[in-house]
Formats: sequence, C-alpha cells, structure tokens
Amino acid sequence: MQFKNFVAAAALAASASALPAAQQEIKVVDSAVGLVESTANPNQAVDVPATNLKTFGLIAIRSGSPLQNQGLTALQSGLSIGRKQDANCYGETSDFATFQLNVETEELFLFNTTELSKQQFYTDRSGMGRGVLQYSNGIDTSFGKRSETKGFAINENGSLQFDGSDFLACPYGDSETEWTVSIDVGNIDPFYTGKNCTGFIAKTIETTTPVGCFYN
Ligand SMILES: *[C@@H]1O[C@H](CO)[C@@H](O)[C@H](O)[C@H]1NC(C)=O
Ligand SMILES: *[C@@H]1O[C@H](CO)[C@@H](O)[C@H](O)[C@H]1NC(C)=O
Ligand SMILES: *[C@@H]1O[C@H](CO)[C@@H](O)[C@H](O)[C@H]1NC(C)=O
Repeated sequence: MQFKNFVAAAALAASASALPAAQQEIKVVDSAVGLVESTANPNQAVDVPATNLKTFGLIAIRSGSPLQNQGLTALQSGLSIGRKQDANCYGETSDFATFQLNVETEELFLFNTTELSKQQFYTDRSGMGRGVLQYSNGIDTSFGKRSETKGFAINENGSLQFDGSDFLACPYGDSETEWTVSIDVGNIDPFYTGKNCTGFIAKTIETTTPVGCFYN
C-alpha cells in the first residue's frame, strides 16, 4: 500500500479508538485478486473462496509509547516496527507490509497480488521459540515440529491476534527507534536481551489498493 494511504488510514484508526468498542471495528477488505478461476464451474466448490481472504495493513496501538500508530514492516523473515523493508513490489513501492488472512484456516500470509503468496507466517510458542514470529521465504515451506501456522484471527475490535494473544515489540539491538515483533506469550523479555519488550495491539487497516510484494 502507498505511504499516503497508510497515514490517512492510521489517522482514521486513531480517531476510531476514541469511539465505543461496538463502533471500533475497522472493516478489512476482501481481496479477490487472481484467486477465482474465470473458467471455474460456478456450482463447483472451490478450495479457498475469495471471501475467506482478508487483505490489510497493520498498525501498532499502544498509546503513550513511541510505537503508537506505526505501521508494521516485513523484512528478513520477520515483522518489525521502525525498520525499512526491502521488498520487490513489481514496480510499485510499499513502505509497509500488506497481509492476507485466510479466515477459515486462520493462516496468515504476506500479500503477493496474482496468487496466494507462499510467504506464510508461523510462530513457535514453546519454551524454545517463546512466541517468535517469522514468515517462510516462499521456497522452503516446511515448518518445524513446534511451529504453528494456524491460529491467526481478527477479533471484534478489528485487531489481529494469534490464539487470542496480542503482540510484543522488542528493541532491535541498541536502537531506540526499531523493534522486532513477536507474539506475546506472557514473557516481557522472551529473547533474553536484557531489555523489556512492549506489548501492543495490531490494528488491521483497510487497504483498497493493496500492493503485492515479494519480501526479502
Ligand atoms: C509471487 O507471485 C509471483 C507472480 O505470480 C510468483 O512468481 C512468485 O513465485 C510469488 N511468490 C511467492 C512467495 O508466493
Ligand atoms: C475490544 O476493545 C475493548 C475496549 O478497548 C476491550 O475492553 C476488549 O477487551 C477488546 N476485545 C478484545 C477481544 O480484545
Ligand atoms: C523490566 O520490567 C521489570 C518488571 O516490570 C522491571 O522490574 C525491570 O526493571 C525492567 N527492566 C528494564 C531493563 O527496563
């Protein structure tokens, strides 16, 4: 998605958060791009109906923190806040990651226009992984024994969660403006950096012009 759209959407979300909970839900966009075969028999059941796919960007909600209203970026197999992505968007530019959720299987992908991306998210909530959140590179899509790919969902407030958990932003190295994103499994310093991570809500933001990319 374009930066301009994203900022406008972020402002919208910020004002929306002042509304009562019932009105807070932010609509996500159904994306049917390239997912319905034009030659398909309409009476035939399709494996993944396009209406089961939601396409959106994510912004961090944690009022009073520097994370507030920042868009999530995808790079180096993970999600971050404050770090620039280096994605191949087929001639377009995209400063923030665009996601695609299969609401039926609860699987989360990066959005890649013409076909369902092979860049799929997985987490490991075991004592080994402690909520680490990564995406596959699209080539090797075999996940480890402790990896979970299913459990992503958008809640009643329009926020993405994994099995009811929100997210953590953990300081990236010594930087005070860059964070690595993981699933909040209840450990404030899951990766033993000696610095506390900050919990945040990942608000989904409608995108009417999703930009498909391959994320490096
Ligand atoms: C993204 O889409 C392009 C064009 O269809 C395709 O060549 C590529 O393999 C896809 N990449 C992933 C990671 O799905
Ligand atoms: C939705 O937002 C309201 C108000 O902020 C909050 O009380 C509630 O717990 C939220 N629901 C979920 C599922 O997070
Ligand atoms: C991390 O949080 C704990 C518990 O709130 C606190 O005692 C500790 O001082 C914090 N550590 C840092 C490095 O901020």
